[in-house]
Amino acid sequence: MEYIEFKNINKTFFKATPREFKALENINFTISKGDFVTIVGSNGAGKSTLLNLIQGLIAKDSGNIYINGKDILQISQIERAKFISCVFQNPLDGTAPRMTILENLSLAYRRGNRRTLRESTKKQEIEIFVKELKKLNLGLEDKLNTPIGFLSGGQRQCISLIMASLNNPKLILLDEHTSALDPKMQNVLMEITDEKIKEKNLTAFMVTHRLTDALKYGNRLLVMHRGKIVFDFKDEEKKKLNVKDLYEIILKLDCENN
Ligand SMILES: Nc1ncnc2c1ncn2[C@@H]1O[C@H](COP(=O)(O)OP(=O)(O)OP(=O)(O)O)[C@@H](O)[C@H]1O
Ligand SMILES: [Mg+2]
Repeated sequence: MEYIEFKNINKTFFKATPREFKALENINFTISKGDFVTIVGSNGAGKSTLLNLIQGLIAKDSGNIYINGKDILQISQIERAKFISCVFQNPLDGTAPRMTILENLSLAYRRGNRRTLRESTKKQEIEIFVKELKKLNLGLEDKLNTPIGFLSGGQRQCISLIMASLNNPKLILLDEHTSALDPKMQNVLMEITDEKIKEKNLTAFMVTHRLTDALKYGNRLLVMHRGKIVFDFKDEEKKKLNVKDLYEIILKLDCENN
């Protein structure tokens, strides 16, 4: 059986008004455990709407999303947060600025678990966090007691990524999570993202406008356009694509409808 199944997902905004707008139309696809799916498409294609719907930030009109056979659209957003995690575009979104690195990581680590705050537990947690932070190579393991608000956007996004992957989520959602960073930091964060996904064998969706990243990372590539998945490149097909091909595909889609 497939790990995640999307069945006939539809979402219309401003229903029954003159502004009625189909943001997602008959979305059907399945993915296997460990798939790293990159998603591209023009502004307004429906990429974030799809991720927001998975997360429970917006409600579907119709359809189902099954993870291991269980329809996750039937359970509350809070329940979903136990096994779906996300890193979004704005570095200010994922972390609590006044809380320290340690406090932010602890919160993420305990999410969905009833862990006690005994000293021994705390010590074990700190060891885990330091190990994760060291892998970033940004010296953040020496700043455990620094409030997150003092860190750069890039540093914050790296910590958000650790937070999102700490509890081995069933699915991790990345919506343009590198886009607010400088070009070098974008590359650093992408490498860290890829390592983390491989190390933990996570199943991931990553929306990006950086076509090089969409091609370089992951084993599957979806192209979205006007609420639909219009191309679905898997493994070998994806490897054969280059940036120019992909750019032309997206450009052609935009021209066809204008
Ligand atoms: N909460 C909402 N209420 C009304 N319309 C919305 C809402 N969220 C998204 N839309 C509309 O749905 C369409 C798809 O938006 P979405 O944010 O999913 O696009 P996107 O593919 O993520 O684009 P971008 O690359 O610009 O982030 C847009 O026309 C947008 O205006
Ligand atoms: Mg978006």
